[in-house]
Amino acid sequence: MIDARGLTVSYNGARDNTPALGPVTFSVARGEFVSFIGPSGCGKTTLARTVAGIITEFDGTLAIGDAGPSAVVSTVFQDYGVFPWKTALQNLEFPLRERGHSKEEARAIAHEWLTKLRIDNFADFYPHQLSGGMKQRVSIARALSVQPDILILDEPFASIDAQLREDLQDELMALQQETAMTTILFTHSYDEAVLLSDQVIVLTARPATVIDTIEIPYPRPRTNALRTDATFGSVVNSLRTAIRGGNDGPR
Ligand SMILES: Nc1ncnc2c1ncn2[C@@H]1O[C@H](COP(=O)(O)OP(=O)(O)OP(=O)(O)O)[C@@H](O)[C@H]1O
Ligand SMILES: [Mg+2]
Repeated sequence: MIDARGLTVSYNGARDNTPALGPVTFSVARGEFVSFIGPSGCGKTTLARTVAGIITEFDGTLAIGDAGPSAVVSTVFQDYGVFPWKTALQNLEFPLRERGHSKEEARAIAHEWLTKLRIDNFADFYPHQLSGGMKQRVSIARALSVQPDILILDEPFASIDAQLREDLQDELMALQQETAMTTILFTHSYDEAVLLSDQVIVLTARPATVIDTIEIPYPRPRTNALRTDATFGSVVNSLRTAIRGGNDGPR
């Protein structure tokens, strides 16, 4: 579904170029859930923006898969990416309307997702009236409401409390089961990566390259019972060891 070969990105400054990413090579099969873990500033958001088609100048090749040009790609960015001039509800309605839903349908689906994310009470609030975690939830609700073929999540749970984070992780697990959604997640959380992923790709410091790719051995369907599985801690630890081995010392 996603095939990147030697993907390399630099930001062109007035005085010099900043190598931000790569070369990275990886592929993600349809329906697969792949997480990327790497130190702050290594190029994760750059990679997310490149796969999402926002950054179009890069070296190497990037093929976005077999769902063809009609593939629906949804993104949740670290800085939320919500429209400041639209209410929470309007933020969700907009892409739904663009995809051909009637006004009434779009409104109903939008409310359904705002309810799932527990922010329906804030449907008529503008982003500047919402907390960071609420804006993040608007962004997540908007991304999921269109039932994307590819979902790109850039540290989506960073400003959400632990309890809701677990609920959203569970929701994501369930959605992954129900749909053929291909998901890439950028995260700093080892637990989250193990819980949700089929593969975890470990990145170096900037410009990020791939140190290691770790298969997560748990079959699907998964449930939140995995959190308390006797083997869970040791899988998380092996991931931790791989990351620590590749990057010198604690960060
Ligand atoms: N628009 C930009 N113009 C110039 N340089 C940029 C731009 N965006 C990012 N960079 C640089 O590219 C490098 C990678 O940044 P990026 O945001 O991709 O890292 P990240 O891994 O997402 O970091 P974090 O974990 O802190 O979110 C950094 O050195 C950053 O300064
Ligand atoms: Mg980032």
